[in-house]
Amino acid sequence: MGEIDMKEYCTYRNPKEPLEARLKDLLSRMTLEEKVGQITQIERRIATANKDIITKFYIGGMLSATGSGPFPDALCSEWADMVNGFQKLAMGTRLGIPLLYGIDAIHGIASIKGATIFPHNIGLGATRDADLVRRIGAATALEVKTSGINCNFAPCVAVCKDPRWGRCYESFSEDTEVVRNMTSIVTGLQGEPPTGHQRGHPFVAGRHNVAACAKHFVGDGGTEGGKNEGNTLLPYNELEKIHMAPFLDCINKGVSMIMPSYSSWNGDKLHANRFLLTDVLKDKLGFKGIVISDWRGIDRLSEPCGSNYRACILSAMESGIDMVMVPYRYDEFFDHLVSLVKSEELPMARIDDAVERILRVKFVAGLFEHPYTEKSWIDSFGCEKHRNLAREAVRKSLVLLKNGKNKPHLPLESKPKKILVAGTHAHNLGFQCGGWTGKWQGLNDENERFPVGTTILEGIIETTGKDTETIYEKEPSEHTLKRDDISLAIVAVGEVPYAESFGDNEKLELPSEITGMVISVAEKFPTLMILISGRALALSPELLDKIEVLIAAWLPGTEGGGIADLVFGDYEFQGRLPITWFRSVDQLSNRTEHMLTDPLFRFGDGLTKYT
Ligand code: BGC
Repeated sequence: MGEIDMKEYCTYRNPKEPLEARLKDLLSRMTLEEKVGQITQIERRIATANKDIITKFYIGGMLSATGSGPFPDALCSEWADMVNGFQKLAMGTRLGIPLLYGIDAIHGIASIKGATIFPHNIGLGATRDADLVRRIGAATALEVKTSGINCNFAPCVAVCKDPRWGRCYESFSEDTEVVRNMTSIVTGLQGEPPTGHQRGHPFVAGRHNVAACAKHFVGDGGTEGGKNEGNTLLPYNELEKIHMAPFLDCINKGVSMIMPSYSSWNGDKLHANRFLLTDVLKDKLGFKGIVISDWRGIDRLSEPCGSNYRACILSAMESGIDMVMVPYRYDEFFDHLVSLVKSEELPMARIDDAVERILRVKFVAGLFEHPYTEKSWIDSFGCEKHRNLAREAVRKSLVLLKNGKNKPHLPLESKPKKILVAGTHAHNLGFQCGGWTGKWQGLNDENERFPVGTTILEGIIETTGKDTETIYEKEPSEHTLKRDDISLAIVAVGEVPYAESFGDNEKLELPSEITGMVISVAEKFPTLMILISGRALALSPELLDKIEVLIAAWLPGTEGGGIADLVFGDYEFQGRLPITWFRSVDQLSNRTEHMLTDPLFRFGDGLTKYT
């Protein structure tokens, strides 16, 4: 096919033409190779190493894995130059089809230095505040769009039934209704569809919005023993009621993309599940957006992972996957898919359906008209307004689980003269942010300080001001423990960052030396313990008995000041447990719904300063 004459009247290039006409026109002009290119999503590194790949393979999708920017510590404007550069190459191809460029901005765009990082989903679930979560979605979308990226692999609408799962913190709650309520984030990310918007069709309101991607379809939070990428054993009606319902809400809000789960349902992997991806998701639920595979999700269809690639591509495409996060074997993928169509093993109609869905999202998101970001938006990146919103989210997400031994300890009677702040998590932004921050597994080296924000310690110093002297010792010395002029200790401890299978954990305990440290502080001073974790952890009865106050702070993100607001400020605690808090892990094996016999704290628990 020859070059398109730019002056030629092209229906697809004309934003005034109806969407369906544009789609039909563009599709009719495309070669098989151009169609297969649209289906292919590659990781940024591939294109950086050889930019010609974008044009040679007519690449339709790119992504940055967490932290995969132009160089370490690159700023937003440098990311924008990078993404705009890739986009320019795609726009320069024969048909000029923009790239869908994705990233996991699952709690803000935490891949980029200087971003506002919000609490992870479990903390947002504790707020029960759908409007707050919608506003967080809008702020996140603006920061993502400022970087040039136009698609966010969020929200995760998993209903986590077992805290042993390494992705528990990506789930808003163990309760389907709470998760459903939090799907307001889709409206924040994409904007609100107007009345009369056709159900099931993707919707992206404007240039400050991104295409959202609900994940992981379906049952990822219900696997046996909380095993990541495991198997969810449930009858269909239970799967639908517990795990599928939030996806339906996302579809009703015009979500653009849905990502299948690595996990299996009753032994069958989701990435090759025609019944769930096509019969249910596309036909029954009416989803008209893109079903995008997870990272190497197709490779995982065979054992050993990555073998029988051609057969895996065929079964994934037949099942209803539209775009494939390849993300590295682009040439093999491309050749196999072209040949599967040529040999008539895969019908052309399936390719056309997939490409139509991809192009529909690109048209709807306005990418043909506005493929590039605007440098002038940079002022909104990590701006004060977004940081205040994140701080509000922190305040609303904290759950007060114990307040005093015999009478309420909070609110404090007066401003303490001298306090001790201690613990591994008191002055560590990386720990505070958790996984998917800076790097996939998060920043688990104590010396890394990638994000820009306020630690818990800094927030305390800022809020208490000159009236209070703060002594900070990560591990209080013998000498400090002997002081008698300290009237309050605040100890922040918890989990070290992790992501996905690396977070699967059958013990869910605090290390014994940490528990011992908190006890030794609590034996000496009235102690507030702040737990930074992505889930419930087993807490020793002795520790629980000795501390005055227990606060579950989840993974609060960059705005640690929200914690001091509650302890020293006039704000009231309002967070409520989004999960049941077990007493010991042994209880987890026999649970049903929220029912643990004799939990330590119940789903929905949360005290106020006066109770
Ligand atoms: C995760 C997805 C994520 C993708 C891209 C996968 O490992 O399961 O949730 O969107 O990586 O980073």
